[in-house]
Amino acid sequence: TYVIALPCVDVKDLACVDECPVDCIYEGERSLYIHPDECIDCGACEPVCPVEAIYYEDDLPEKWSEYYRANVEFFDDLGSPGGAAQTGPIPKDHEVVAQLPPQT
Ligand code: F3S
Ligand code: F3S
Repeated sequence: TYVIALPCVDVKDLACVDECPVDCIYEGERSLYIHPDECIDCGACEPVCPVEAIYYEDDLPEKWSEYYRANVEFFDDLGSPGGAAQTGPIPKDHEVVAQLPPQT
């Protein structure tokens, strides 16, 4: 799966959302999250992010390793919604993101 890391927090450019052919990039309050089971690893989202927040899981920089867990666990209570257009923005963040001071 692909993972969205720290650079997305409080930026939320959203360019990635339009690129995803399976609509598996979901919007939280301060960041976006890629559904690990719905992502088909096409990689289309990665180059369009202006702040380079998106990585294939094996290429995730070590300093942001906890974002793998953040993307996965974000969906613990959501299951597999089958498309971000259906859920719309989700009013929560994973604790890894929620605990961060404002990123400007
Ligand atoms: Fe975030 Fe980059 Fe997408 S800033 S919303 S991961 S384009
Ligand atoms: Fe979508 Fe990016 Fe995965 S475009 S299918 S989230 S690699």
